[in-house]
Amino acid sequence: MRRKLVAGNWKMYGGLARNRDLLQSLAHAIGKGGKADCAVCVPFPYLAQTQELLKGTAIAWGAQTLSEHAQGAYTGETSAAMLADFGCRYVIVGHSERRSLYGESNETVAAKFVAAVQGGLAPILCLGETLEQREGNVTEQVIAAQLDAVTQVAGMNGFASAVIAYEPVWAIGTGRTATPQQAQEVHAFIRQRMAKSDAALAQRLQILYGGSVKPQNASELFGMADIDGGLIGGASLVAQDFLAICQAAG
Ligand code: 13P
Repeated sequence: MRRKLVAGNWKMYGGLARNRDLLQSLAHAIGKGGKADCAVCVPFPYLAQTQELLKGTAIAWGAQTLSEHAQGAYTGETSAAMLADFGCRYVIVGHSERRSLYGESNETVAAKFVAAVQGGLAPILCLGETLEQREGNVTEQVIAAQLDAVTQVAGMNGFASAVIAYEPVWAIGTGRTATPQQAQEVHAFIRQRMAKSDAALAQRLQILYGGSVKPQNASELFGMADIDGGLIGGASLVAQDFLAICQAAG
C-alpha cells in the first residue's frame, strides 16, 4: 500500500507575516503527522522561515525549481546543495509554468531532475498536456515524451526517491479539474510505462494529481487506484483548505 502525499505549491505567493500564520496553523494541526504525508514547496526567500517553523514537525518542505548545475557563475540560480542546506526534502521539477513561461525543455527538466537526485533531494517531476493536446488525442504521447526524457537520463535508479505529479495544464488554476476517471487513466498509463522498466519501483512510486484540487473534490480523486495524493496550488495557501485536503488523503 503506497502512502499518500499532499504537497502544497505556493508558487510566487506569500510574505513573512502570512507565511507565519499559515505554517503555524499547519504545524499545529498536523505537526505530529497524519495518515498521509504532507509537504510545502515555498519560494526561495522563505526556506529559512519554513525550516524554522516546521523543524521537528512531520511536515516536509521544499522548493519549486533548482539549477541543473551544481555550482558556478550562474547569476540568480539556486543549486540542489543550497536547498539541502535549508533542510529541503523535495523540489518541484518541470512544473508547466516553468516549461511554458521559462522555456524549460524536456532536456532541461531531465538535467534538473538529475541535479536534484545528486544533491540528495526528492524531485517532484511534473508532467501534463495542454488542452489542445488533449483535444488532439495526443495526451499519452506528450506524457510519454516528458517522462522518457527523464528516465533516459536519470535511469530507473533516479526515481528511487522521486515523486511524479500529473498536472494537466488545462486544470491548473482554472477551477476546471480533471475528472477522477480522466486523471486515473493517465496515472495508470504513467505507472504502466514505468513498470515496463522496473515493476517493483512502479508499484512503490507515488503519483500525485495536480490541477484545481479543492476540499470538495479531493476525496474522490484520492480514492482512485493510482492517485497517491495531490500537488496543490491555490488551495495550499489557505490553511483550512489545505488541511481539509490532507485529511481527505488520510
Ligand atoms: P491549482 O491547485 O491552483 O490549480 O495549481 C495546481 C498546481 O499547479 C500545483 O503545482
